[in-house]
Amino acid sequence: MHLYTNPKSHFAARSKTATPIYLLTKHELKGKQHGLGKTVLAWAQTTGFAGESGQVCLVPGDHGKIECVLFGLGSGSGDGKAMAHAKLARTLPKAKYSFSEDRGNAGLDQIAWALGGYSFDRYRARKHKTPQLASKPDADAHRIIEGVFFTRDLINTPASDMGPDKLETAFRMLARNHQAKVKVIKGDALIKQNFPMVHAVGRASVTAPRVLDLKWGKANHPKVTLVGKGVTFDTGGLNIKPGSSMALMKKDMGGAANVMGLAHMIMDAKLPVRLRLIVGAVENSIAGNAFRPGDVLASRKGLSVEIGNTDAEGRLVLGDLLALGDEEKPQLMIDMATLTGAARVALGPDLPPFYTDDDQFAAELVDQAQSINDPLWRMPLWAPYQSMLASKIADVNHISSGGFAGSVTAALFLSRFVEKAESWTHFDIFGWTPSEKPWAPVGGEAQCIRTLYAVLKNRASR
Ligand code: BES
Ligand code: MN
Ligand code: ZN
Repeated sequence: MHLYTNPKSHFAARSKTATPIYLLTKHELKGKQHGLGKTVLAWAQTTGFAGESGQVCLVPGDHGKIECVLFGLGSGSGDGKAMAHAKLARTLPKAKYSFSEDRGNAGLDQIAWALGGYSFDRYRARKHKTPQLASKPDADAHRIIEGVFFTRDLINTPASDMGPDKLETAFRMLARNHQAKVKVIKGDALIKQNFPMVHAVGRASVTAPRVLDLKWGKANHPKVTLVGKGVTFDTGGLNIKPGSSMALMKKDMGGAANVMGLAHMIMDAKLPVRLRLIVGAVENSIAGNAFRPGDVLASRKGLSVEIGNTDAEGRLVLGDLLALGDEEKPQLMIDMATLTGAARVALGPDLPPFYTDDDQFAAELVDQAQSINDPLWRMPLWAPYQSMLASKIADVNHISSGGFAGSVTAALFLSRFVEKAESWTHFDIFGWTPSEKPWAPVGGEAQCIRTLYAVLKNRASR
């Protein structure tokens, strides 16, 4: 896996000389249970450390060493509290550290540490020097960190080095690491093998569009199919985006990057599922052969689709891929995509909406998300809005006429391509951290996949 950022640099073996980190709520700092000496407390007072949320205090020791680190947890509640201290992994000087007490969640502390310390260094001459936690993650925490790093690296890599061809290379590497089978259908073969919408979206690029299809696991296990939007760059097509909207569009393969990170976790853990991973790797470019507004496309499902706007390309790619996944009636089908700006208008960048008719699965997702700080929010597949997708000349239009409920109508469009899957869930993610979080620098982000992995693992253990 280590073509990509390696989690190992964030950890070291247990060590008695590691600098202790005390995580303290305001309340705990005032009490006596913390075991801090008088001098340390006096230093905290002198420097104004009061245990406020996110406050950091380096306490000097002999010979110019740091004796210990105090980190404030504020009231100890609030969103993101499980990972508030992750910021230390990015801000402390390079040395070995250990948490002073086991708060009963070492795995999550290690994951937080790695996620907060992550740095995308591929293009830098000088690699980032990261502080180390003197406590190595177990296999499960390690694979979760690897999956998230893989996802972030894929998104952070600019489109010049992550076109449909390079996304295929990463996909094949993932498969090879887990002895999975890969099939790739590309270029004109997409027409012959009936992926008209994938082809239409990607055909104007100098790098051929392709469907990446991975299979792994035993035939007798329940079938889980993951589908990802892999638009390696989204110019908007002929409905070209203004510069400010196009600037970040290297991240438009964020859905693919996320399902690939999740697939790594599933296969590395050898979960008892029959996994299928389908990615549509295409670039939405502009050229004389580009698809146009007003065109009517055929689709794998057999529906004719009127094009309202070439910038709504993701749902076209997903439509054909969902139809493919649906053909073998999976127990679970999950797609992830940086699908609409409207999802961000509704919920902002950090809270991805998901859509499903499967109440049980939705409940399990919500149940797992909170405690591991990987949030999501259910939104409705509001059937009455299907009428907004009516077309005057085709079976369906791919965008709604009024511009209302953009994320909901995109999800409803996708639902037209799913019929036989026993359960289907769609995630409209942002895939990016626009302003720094304790557990994430600005850049590509894994969203909802730690939660999905927790739900799948939990199901496997029942
Ligand atoms: N990739 C974009 C959606 C997007 C934009 C996600 C910004 C995250 C941040 C997608 O292909 C798109 O352009 N959607 C259009 C749809 C519209 C034309 C109906 C949008 O959301 O504006
Ligand atoms: Mn677009
Ligand atoms: Zn897009």
